Amino acid sequence: MSQRIKIKALLESEQTGIEVVVKGWIRTFRNNQFIALNDGSTNNNIQVVVDFENTDPNLLKRLTTGAAISVVGELVPSLGKGQKVEVKAKSIEVLGDSDPEKYPLQPKKHSLEFLREIAHLRFRTNTFGAVFRVRNTLAYAIHRFFNDRGFVYLHTPIITASDAEGAGETFHVTNFDLLSIPKTDSGEVNYKDDFFGRATNLTVSGQLEGELGAMALSDIYTFGPTFRAENSNTTRHLAEFWMIEPEMAFYDLEDNMNLAEEMLKYLIGEALKHNADDIEFLSQRLADEEKQKPQHERSEMSLTEKLQFCLDNDFQRLTYTEAIDILKESTPNKKKKFQYPVEGWGTDLQSEHERYLVEKHFKKPVILTDYPKQIKAFYMRQNDDGKTVRAMDILFPGIGEIIGGSQREERLEKLEQRMDEMGVPKEELWWYLDTRRFGTCQHAGFGLGFERMVQFVTGMGNIRDVIPFPRFPKNAEF
Ligand code: 4AD
Ligand code: MG
Repeated sequence: MSQRIKIKALLESEQTGIEVVVKGWIRTFRNNQFIALNDGSTNNNIQVVVDFENTDPNLLKRLTTGAAISVVGELVPSLGKGQKVEVKAKSIEVLGDSDPEKYPLQPKKHSLEFLREIAHLRFRTNTFGAVFRVRNTLAYAIHRFFNDRGFVYLHTPIITASDAEGAGETFHVTNFDLLSIPKTDSGEVNYKDDFFGRATNLTVSGQLEGELGAMALSDIYTFGPTFRAENSNTTRHLAEFWMIEPEMAFYDLEDNMNLAEEMLKYLIGEALKHNADDIEFLSQRLADEEKQKPQHERSEMSLTEKLQFCLDNDFQRLTYTEAIDILKESTPNKKKKFQYPVEGWGTDLQSEHERYLVEKHFKKPVILTDYPKQIKAFYMRQNDDGKTVRAMDILFPGIGEIIGGSQREERLEKLEQRMDEMGVPKEELWWYLDTRRFGTCQHAGFGLGFERMVQFVTGMGNIRDVIPFPRFPKNAEF
């Protein structure tokens, strides 16, 4: 018997009149005659035409939404609209039944909130099929981008004793029996008795270890899961998310920005190239969703146009200080429309401010540089003004911060002094400081939040809908 062919290949087939084997899950079965079959290889279904007069009625009854079937039939030109070819079934075997009374996915539109509750089945919808194929393309493209440029993929540890960002938002890793935790004489937790003999946590960033790699291999990147116990119930935060962190020896901030912009454009281009159907579908989905909104809240561009626009335009680069001046003078600030009014210099930007700069003022992606040192991590290179550091954040329309990065402080004394000021324990990071002791050099890097990138390319409004099984406060189902 001939081999199974995936539906994507079948639909692209130029040859008809051949016998094919196709397997998949039934989306719908109409008029006892037309099966819409999908196997996840594409957003499009293949139509399987059933000769119902010559088919066992007991078999027909089992052709329900969600059932897995195998079909042997002839690939023929389709008379119906919307598809070039269809399969005229010769024999159908039900591989796995699906009780239509109990199957949660009905052939109708479900809300994204409902689908999140049945995340184990949502892969079978058009929307999530498209999202996860795009996610896959982006992941693969990241490896291609860096490997084509001679970067080494470095696997930094998931379990670590450091909090790279110093934000204290780590998940503890312990082997203790929580009901009888060993204590020291002074009543503190005695980590000496724990699995690693010290306090450990899940990593918030692979950067510090990444820098060690760059100080020998020149250009490295990480791509792995990172964890943050921040209690943020927003559409942009997850407790477990994937991050890409390149780190480059001999780069300054300018080189860093250039690489980041080139990478983001490459990724968008790859998705447009390899997932045209999926993006077209998601673009339409978003347009339909926006029809529910009042006119002034709708996007000026479709998803596809927005992606193309990002590809075709240079990102706007300016300093934090320049941005503050723009925000102070902005109409929403003067009319007290911001929830957090922009008054002085030195505070962190809120997402309403970032979105104003990107969506209203510049109307394109923005790279902000040279932030006040007090709102950034200890490792960023200090500017001569004594107030700012060589940080960069890349802000995207609809997303806000998609990348955070900086040139690193390569001068030992300056770094130690900043660690002291910020209370970062130098003894614990002796290995990090060693790179500044032996052959230190200018270097820089950044972190791309992978899910935020997938959100941007798919137009999905909630970050929980672009990772298969989202982790957020009070939720770790599946
Ligand atoms: O700005 P962040 O905290 O930077 C770092 O972790 C640096 N060590 C990166 C580096 O220079 N190597 O995080 C980087 C990016 C953010 O811009 C954002 O896109 C994403 O990671 N991110 C999150 N994504 C989802 N959920 C969260 N809770 C996130 N926190 C940060
Ligand atoms: Mg950041």
